[in-house]
Amino acid sequence: MKKQLVQLISQEEIAVTVNRLAKELDRDYENRSLLLVGILKGSFIFLADLVRKINTTICNIEFISISSYGASTVTSGQATIIMGLPKEKVMGQDVIVVEDIVDTGITTATVLNYLKNYDPASLRLCTLLNKPARRQIPVTIDYLGFTVPDCFIVGYGIDFNQEYRQLPAIYALEE
Ligand code: PRP
Repeated sequence: MKKQLVQLISQEEIAVTVNRLAKELDRDYENRSLLLVGILKGSFIFLADLVRKINTTICNIEFISISSYGASTVTSGQATIIMGLPKEKVMGQDVIVVEDIVDTGITTATVLNYLKNYDPASLRLCTLLNKPARRQIPVTIDYLGFTVPDCFIVGYGIDFNQEYRQLPAIYALEE
């Protein structure tokens, strides 16, 4: 059966929320500078919109790539970093990890653990979406856009089999 796209969050709602998150970061990091670390690939659109609304100095933007986990890694709660960062880029920096969605929590927990070992001055997580129904690993979300229900989410950077990333709003993909 053909899959249907059901809109959950409009472009306008996303824009308002991205603005709100940028303001929260500006408030918390006034007179400091930020290193933003996006998790590829899903965060690329959110990160691009977010940076254009932040007034705080952004000292650097970096990306991390992480393997999609298979059945075996789900049980261990670990994923593998396939493109990381040199320690010197992270050490002593105020780091914000920018993610599109926290689902099981495995991806963000793995990235946060990885970066913590590189001695940042501070380390926080900003995610546009949170899907708490599927959480396997507790993750502290410091800056949150929306909480979404337990359905397959696509759009605004998030894919299904690499499709739908370019959609400007956020949709549930339903049978
Ligand atoms: C998706 C999404 C998050 C992660 C969240 O990435 O973009 O990074 O899954 O899931 P988790 O909380 O269960 O770990 P995906 O592995 O599909 O790769 P992509 O970003 O390249 O699409």
